[in-house]
Amino acid sequence: MLTDSQISSRLQTLTDPELGRSFGELGMLGGVAVGPNNAVTVTIDLPTPAYPGKNRIVDAVRSTISQSFADAGSVEVAFKSNVRGLNSGGTLGLKIKNVVAVGSGKGGVGKSTVAATLAYGLKSLGCQVGLMDADVYGPSIPHMVGAHGRPVAVKHKTSTGEEFERIEPVIANGLKVISMGYFVQPDQAVIWRGPLLHRAITQFLKDTDWGELDYLIIDLPPGTGDVSLTLSQMLGLAGAVVVCTPQQVALLDAMKAISMFRQVKIPILGLVENMTGEIFGRGGAKNKAEELGIPFLGELPIDAGIRIRGDDGHIANLFSEDNPSRGPLLGICERTAIQIARQLLETPKMPSLEII
Ligand SMILES: Nc1ncnc2c1ncn2[C@@H]1O[C@H](COP(=O)(O)OP(=O)(O)O)[C@@H](O)[C@H]1O
Ligand SMILES: [Mg+2]
Repeated sequence: MLTDSQISSRLQTLTDPELGRSFGELGMLGGVAVGPNNAVTVTIDLPTPAYPGKNRIVDAVRSTISQSFADAGSVEVAFKSNVRGLNSGGTLGLKIKNVVAVGSGKGGVGKSTVAATLAYGLKSLGCQVGLMDADVYGPSIPHMVGAHGRPVAVKHKTSTGEEFERIEPVIANGLKVISMGYFVQPDQAVIWRGPLLHRAITQFLKDTDWGELDYLIIDLPPGTGDVSLTLSQMLGLAGAVVVCTPQQVALLDAMKAISMFRQVKIPILGLVENMTGEIFGRGGAKNKAEELGIPFLGELPIDAGIRIRGDDGHIANLFSEDNPSRGPLLGICERTAIQIARQLLETPKMPSLEII
C-alpha cells in the first residue's frame, strides 16, 4: 500500500523548473494524499499565481510518481499560491509584498502601457495588485485606465481614538489606481523641486489605502532618478522593469536607466522590448539584456489594438478580449513575477525587512 509520506519524500527532491531548487527547499509541496486505487492528489504551493508554464510541474510530478511507484494510480496536481515577497511596504505600515517600478530612459517608449498592462495582467492571473502613477511629468495612467474620478480622503481612527486620513484609490476595472495626475490640473505645468517631490511621493504612497497587495506597480517618470531615489530610500523594492524600443538610440537610453537604478540600489528585474516590428526592428533589447547579464522579460509587438485601447481608456480589455497582444503581455507578467520570486532566493535578506 502506497503512503502519503513515501510519495511526499520523493517529490520533495524534485527540482522546480523555474526556480532551480527542490520543492522541499522551496516549501512548494503543499500536500500529498493517496486515495482509493492508489489515486494520488498532489498540491503544489506556487510562489505566485503568475507562475509560467505550470504544466511542466504537472508533467514532472506525474512522470516521477509513475517511475518511482509502479503501483500508483491516477495522479492529479492541484495548485495553490502564496505570493512571496519582501514585505516592501512594511516599514511604512503598508501591507504590500512586492513593489515593482517600471522605468525607461526616455518618454514615449510605452512605459505607462507596460506598467498598466503588468498591473491588469497580474490581476487577471489572480494576484492582488495596485497601480501607482508616479510620473509627475506626464501622468497618463488615469487616461489609459479610463478613471477620471477624484480620489477622496477618508477619515479613520486609531485604536486610541486618534483621527487620521487615508486616500481611497480610484477603482478602474477592479484595479486600485492612484495617480499624481489626480492632484494637479491637466494643463498645469508642474515644476517639482527635489524636497517637494520627495514629500509628495512619500505621502502619496504612504497615505493611500492600498489594503493588502501582492504587487504594487509604479509608473516612474522617464530618465531622472529623483523618484527612484526617494522610493529606494523609503522601502525595499522588489525591483525595476526597464522598457525600451528596439532601436539603438532607445537602447542607449535604456542603458542610462539601468545605470540609474544600479546607482540608487534598485535591483533590475529585466528588460522589456516594446514596439517590436517592422518599423523599429526587433531583438535589440534581447541582445542587450544578454550582454548585460540581466533577464529579458519579453517583447511586445507594435499593435494598433494597444494604442486604441490605451487612448480610449480601455487598456484593461487587452486581457478580457481576444487579441494578438494578450499572449505576449501575459508572458511579460509571468516572467516578471517569477523573476521576483527568483531574486528573493538570491538576494540576502535586507536588514529591517522580513520575508513574508
Ligand atoms: N506595443 C505598442 N503598440 C502600439 N502602440 C503602443 C505600444 N506601446 C505603446 N503604444 C502607444 O505609444 C504611445 C506612448 O506609450 P506610453 O505608454 O504612453 O509611453 P511612455 O509612458 O513611455 O511615455 C501611446 O499612445 C501608446 O498607446
Ligand atoms: Mg507615460
